[in-house]
Amino acid sequence: MAESMQGLHRSHRCTEVSNKNIGETVTVMGWVQKRRNLGSLIFIDLRDRSGLLQLVFDENNGEVFEKAKNLRSEFVIAAEGVVRQRSGAVNENMATGDIEVTVNTLRILSEAETPPFPVEEDANTREELRLKYRYLDLRKPHLQRNLKMRSDITTFIRKFMSNEGFIEIETPTLCKSTPEGARDYLVPSRVHPGCFYALPQSPQLYKQLLMCSGFDRYIQIAKCYRDEDLRADRQPEFTQVDMELSFVDVDDVIDVNERLLKALFKEILDVDVQLPIQRMTWIEAMNRYGSDKPDTRFGMELIDVTDVVKGCGFGVFTGAIENGGSVRGLNVKGQGAMPRKKIDKLVDSAKGNGAKGLAYIAMHEDGTIKSSFAMTDEEMDNLIKAMDGQPGDLLVFAADKNKIVWNVLGALRLELAEQLDLIDKSKFNFLWVVEFPQFEWSDEQNRFLAMHHPFTMPMDEDLDYIESDPGRVRAKAYDIVLNGSEIGGGSVRIHQADVQERMLKALGFTTEAAHEQFGFLLDAFKYGVPPHAGLAYGLDRLVMHMTGEDNIREVIAFPKVKDASCLMTEAPTAVDEKQLEELSIETIDVEEEK
Ligand code: AMO
Repeated sequence: MAESMQGLHRSHRCTEVSNKNIGETVTVMGWVQKRRNLGSLIFIDLRDRSGLLQLVFDENNGEVFEKAKNLRSEFVIAAEGVVRQRSGAVNENMATGDIEVTVNTLRILSEAETPPFPVEEDANTREELRLKYRYLDLRKPHLQRNLKMRSDITTFIRKFMSNEGFIEIETPTLCKSTPEGARDYLVPSRVHPGCFYALPQSPQLYKQLLMCSGFDRYIQIAKCYRDEDLRADRQPEFTQVDMELSFVDVDDVIDVNERLLKALFKEILDVDVQLPIQRMTWIEAMNRYGSDKPDTRFGMELIDVTDVVKGCGFGVFTGAIENGGSVRGLNVKGQGAMPRKKIDKLVDSAKGNGAKGLAYIAMHEDGTIKSSFAMTDEEMDNLIKAMDGQPGDLLVFAADKNKIVWNVLGALRLELAEQLDLIDKSKFNFLWVVEFPQFEWSDEQNRFLAMHHPFTMPMDEDLDYIESDPGRVRAKAYDIVLNGSEIGGGSVRIHQADVQERMLKALGFTTEAAHEQFGFLLDAFKYGVPPHAGLAYGLDRLVMHMTGEDNIREVIAFPKVKDASCLMTEAPTAVDEKQLEELSIETIDVEEEK
């Protein structure tokens, strides 16, 4: 039977009680974590968001003692009692491990059924079950800590940015579809049958319009929606820390963000971020790490051996080069004796990433070598030298178009680093990746696409090549990378109508199509637009790194799973016929249609 808390007033959270309160009467409220019955004494670990506190019920206090016998895990109680030194051994693992509260008054505020899994860390509960009962899962200390840290982070960012002159402005979430790349989530309009709003993939165009309106510096912690495949660091609904600044260039955006990151990591984690943060061009990142978001916490960089194997006797290498590709390798130090089965696994994952195969040379400690391909001794010697191969090393090679080679070796480098435990997980390695290509060729669409978005400014020295050689145009775009993860990205925007027009033409937009999609922005730019630039962090990813998690679901209160559904509410669900009718929507059974 649930009792009322009337007449009781919480005096402390659990871990706010300390040995300074010995002899005082306190009132605490929370959940029963654990009960231990020792015959004449009952011990309860009481839990609230601050942590645990030991309550003691003595048989000499008959009525309260009898009541305590009924307590089970997850009952919600209020207890009033006197703080004293622990009678038993001090628990070093508990903040309140040297004290306990002898309870005089106990109220059972809410009983609880046996939960579907124990509310404690390392309970080995399947994630599906955790997410179905997320409200119970969220009681666990690490999720309480993560969401508290998330709150501390956003509070700090808001304060810092406000001090820097940024104004927080909310932008709509019922929008017009914007050309950002991913698929939109659509919302049907009742009033305009057959018409749809799109949920924003980011506030990109609105924040540019706010610059046109003269707000000068904008920030928003904004919900964004992208209907794309989920991964460990991707949710269909996620949060950006979104900003835009007027009258600035690349260095200004980088400057305020470096100071923000430094102050944030100091405040929240007491970690010193060294400024300036290293900058690396996109092409250097690809050549050295095979990735535009390199993990620089370890070496094992890619080595380009194209020139060394040009004209060698191995057809796979020469064929790739003749097709305009390259041959690159990784020197996996000290792994020359890697068992064949393990090497085969590497080959398989390379194939999974688009390689036709993976060539290798295993160098044994005794000086003999074993390779998966044949070439003359001299060619082999030259190749090993170029790779700085020493006895005991494993050399692996990919030969193909650059994009595939980068992708394959970049992924292999990360896989091997995990396998061989090469990453110092205590490090926070920041990196700016700059000078991204403006355009990306799409074989699928047989045309150039914008790598960032169509409003990104090309680098001044490349403006002349927009029409003649789009592939060589670099953008004033930058990503901020932390430990191999893209935590944010942005760019300087185009503010001149003529450059914007050339960009859109190069991307294959007709004037009509451009006006159809974002005429409002092109129109706004006719009325006086300041040069502007911005950036957006993936807040979930940033918090994931700061909490030491490796999945963003651990820092989101109610996340979705791989198929974009919510296991707790079961969204998305079918809706009433009547609702659909109002929206002028008819559904079809896709399977049946097929
Ligand atoms: P971008 O598309 O790079 O840029 O997004 C910015 C950052 O948002 C995070 N992010 C995601 N996080 C979780 N789940 C997702 N599905 C997801 N998609 C992106 C990443 C990414 O770096 N309008 C531009 C920003 C700008 O130019 O100012 C934009 O949205 O951390």
